[in-house]
Amino acid sequence: MIRFENVTKLYKDKKALEDINLEINHGEFVSLVGQSGAGKSTLLKLIFAEEKLDSGRILIDEVDIASLSETEIPYLRRKIGVVFQDIKLLPKKTAFENVGFAMEVAGYAREKIERDVPRILEIVGLKDKIMNFPAEMSGGEKQRVAIARALAHKPVLLIADEPTGNLDEINSYEILDLLHKINNLGTTVILATHARDLVNKIQKRVVTMETGRVAYDQAKGHYKL
Ligand SMILES: Nc1ncnc2c1ncn2[C@@H]1O[C@H](COP(=O)(O)OP(=O)(O)OP(=O)(O)O)[C@@H](O)[C@H]1O
Ligand SMILES: [Mg+2]
Repeated sequence: MIRFENVTKLYKDKKALEDINLEINHGEFVSLVGQSGAGKSTLLKLIFAEEKLDSGRILIDEVDIASLSETEIPYLRRKIGVVFQDIKLLPKKTAFENVGFAMEVAGYAREKIERDVPRILEIVGLKDKIMNFPAEMSGGEKQRVAIARALAHKPVLLIADEPTGNLDEINSYEILDLLHKINNLGTTVILATHARDLVNKIQKRVVTMETGRVAYDQAKGHYKL
């Protein structure tokens, strides 16, 4: 579903990613690990077309992202749900409204929103918190709302960049469990995290990045450096 071919990304003249080759298939759960500055977020931003690459190409479902026009990029983004470390929920909206608003923006009809939002919030384990405002929820619960919001437009790919960065260990495991569950329901998941302990536990594919390169990819089973 996603293929990086010799991808290099520079910020000014500094290399953030260098010669990345990576293939991720539909339905996979891939954890990207590596130290701060290794290039994890940059790699995710390229998939979401939030940043442009400098050489190489990225294919998503065999389409070269660089060939997409400004008007086609929203179609790419509709396939993708995104979750970040700093959860940006709308403070004056309830859990229901936060998810519903995302669906409204994506053009869904009122009836569908009314029907789907409770289901999505149930999937993320927040059935009882539907009418709570962000200030009335814990960090872990807020992150669940953010995940529900990312799922609202039924993406085929969920990108999570340090979703557990601000959470304690127990909440982190719960979020990871939830990402697992979402993956089992058929969504491809890419998780970027510092927390190697966390990903070692889940026994899925781990891609280790070091200074802008893929140092180790479990799918290939060998060090490239
Ligand atoms: N907008 C930017 N402008 C300039 N340099 C940037 C920018 N974003 C990232 N960088 C640099 O690119 C490199 C990769 O950064 P990136 O954010 O991808 O790392 P990361 O692995 O996500 O790190 P962290 O674990 O801290 O989130 C770093 O050297 C960083 O300083
Ligand atoms: Mg990052």
